[in-house]
Amino acid sequence: MVLTLIPLPSSVTAAPGAFVLSPAARIVIVDGADAAASVLSDLLAHRCGLRPEVTTDDPAAGDIVLRATGADDEAYRLEVAERIEIAGADAGLFYGIQTLRQLLREDAGSWSIPQVSIVDAPRFAYRGVMLDVARTFFDVATVKAFIDRASSLKFNHLHLHLTDDQGWRLHIDSRPLLTEKASGTSVLGRPGGFYTKDDFREIIAYAAAHHMVVVPEIDLPGHTHAIGLAYPDVVEAPVMNDMLLAQSESLGQPLPAAGEPYQGWGVGHSSVRIHEDATWDFLRDVLGEVAEITPGDYLHIGGDECLGTPPADFDAFVERVTALTVELGKTPVAWHEAGSAVVAEGTVGQFWGSDTPSDEHIEHTRRFVERGGSVILSPSTRAYLDMKYTPEFPLGLSWAAVIDLETAYSWEPDAIVPGLDPAAILGIEGPLWAETLATLDDIDQLFFPRAAALAEIAWSSASAKDWNSFRARVGGLGPVWDAEGWGGHRPAEIDWSTP
Ligand code: ACM
Repeated sequence: MVLTLIPLPSSVTAAPGAFVLSPAARIVIVDGADAAASVLSDLLAHRCGLRPEVTTDDPAAGDIVLRATGADDEAYRLEVAERIEIAGADAGLFYGIQTLRQLLREDAGSWSIPQVSIVDAPRFAYRGVMLDVARTFFDVATVKAFIDRASSLKFNHLHLHLTDDQGWRLHIDSRPLLTEKASGTSVLGRPGGFYTKDDFREIIAYAAAHHMVVVPEIDLPGHTHAIGLAYPDVVEAPVMNDMLLAQSESLGQPLPAAGEPYQGWGVGHSSVRIHEDATWDFLRDVLGEVAEITPGDYLHIGGDECLGTPPADFDAFVERVTALTVELGKTPVAWHEAGSAVVAEGTVGQFWGSDTPSDEHIEHTRRFVERGGSVILSPSTRAYLDMKYTPEFPLGLSWAAVIDLETAYSWEPDAIVPGLDPAAILGIEGPLWAETLATLDDIDQLFFPRAAALAEIAWSSASAKDWNSFRARVGGLGPVWDAEGWGGHRPAEIDWSTP
């Protein structure tokens, strides 16, 4: 029997037989595993219709024991024998429960879990997914649903792309016109929207309960057309050069007009005014409030696709905005183009080039490490969750690549950027851009099953990676995702029948 575990744990020893979950089973918490008990209780209620008693009494056969350890890491142990025991610190207990979620099986009305002994810990500290709520606004409930899905695969960072040419999605008290005037639309006439500060706190708290850290992105200095609807003195007029005209023609979408919402998805035409004091007053206000509301260490300042910005101005901007971010108490994260500048010491670079990157992309990415920072890898030809699975797939784009499941699985982070010290790789992230997405079902179609491939690259050891093993395990997970009510694409090259 294939154990349908993704990401593959560090060590799995299966034994014959199974633990049968009886209605009399209790959740026994040891040394304060209360938060994990509530996660497990909700899982068993949802999947099995059982709400076991939670107790601190001595465990008996048939019980599920959650043992909190004092460790400060994400590792866990899971033993399934005559009783189940999960041991770990907070995050480890949560991940042990996610592993249990994948092992639970119903047979003739009875729930069981195969006997197994698992020892597990992640490869990378940063295991991220990104949701673009700027091109299409997704409400709080949808973001929470996205967190449910991502955290089940042991992703631990949620990068929210909160601002772009098409809309501004987070209320800023000192700059109220941003959401009043620049949040009303999404691409292609879809509805807009924004998060109040309370909404955003709710997302952060929900993410934290699922052991995910929110990384907010305010994309700068480009991707800023929407700001001009609210504070026109802060942005330049849209750039219109031959390249941008050709892009507009090939997309069949009009160029942006100053002061009008932009509902296409062309890039590179907008910039804040880099040398104006008013811009820096604005950025101090905005980034100050974003830093204040964000408990996580990271604040993403964008830096991508500034096609109309002179390179010297771009570098001056990046140097200053990363320094400002540090001054505000956060570690800046920036797309790899920002490596052309003298970024603040410790800035994290996010590589989004191809898996055969240009010399310039390599050079810019390495610069973050030379400045004491590290790198998140999001090679667009492998890790972009918004690329199509096949040329005919109805959702997604294909400007970087067509990415089938095997392509999403078959890459090694250490080999993407030549000359990058593997120790400088903080982790990987799968961005889900939302130009073609309207609903949670659309999100699921692009997320499942490719996010499972990325999860395994992020969590499991490089030596454990094996496509044939993965394809067997992912097939067995289809029924688990169905049982959770999570949809998604089920590519024909995988056998999706119950194991
Ligand atoms: C990007 O895809 N522009 C980061």
